[in-house]
Amino acid sequence: MAREDVSEALTAAPARPLLALDELAAGAFAAAEGAVEGSVESLIVHRDPAGAVRAWLNVCPHAGRRLDWAPGKFILSKDGLLVCAVHGASFETAGGLCTAGPCRGESLRAVAVVVRDGAVWLA
Ligand code: FES
Repeated sequence: MAREDVSEALTAAPARPLLALDELAAGAFAAAEGAVEGSVESLIVHRDPAGAVRAWLNVCPHAGRRLDWAPGKFILSKDGLLVCAVHGASFETAGGLCTAGPCRGESLRAVAVVVRDGAVWLA
């Protein structure tokens, strides 16, 4: 296959959502994979109690590790903070700011998403 043919095949591939909205209950977190700046990344997807959906790279600003203790299994504090499973940094879920722990003051890297047709998509 000629180089142009491969490129055409890739761009013709149908886009897929990160996940279906009904897989993400209000207040829940999920892990998904999506292409960000040309590479496939693990993402944290969160639907807040009011229904707003946000996403961040699943990369802790402290040591660059995933925040989940197993794929898609996230720790929440009793105060509703997202807690990194590696060293316990705690992040507020409105903006991803670390409010306690070894990277206090730093933030998760936000990834723009939209809800469309009952699913969450990269924006
Ligand atoms: S890698 Fe997350 S707190 Fe250290």
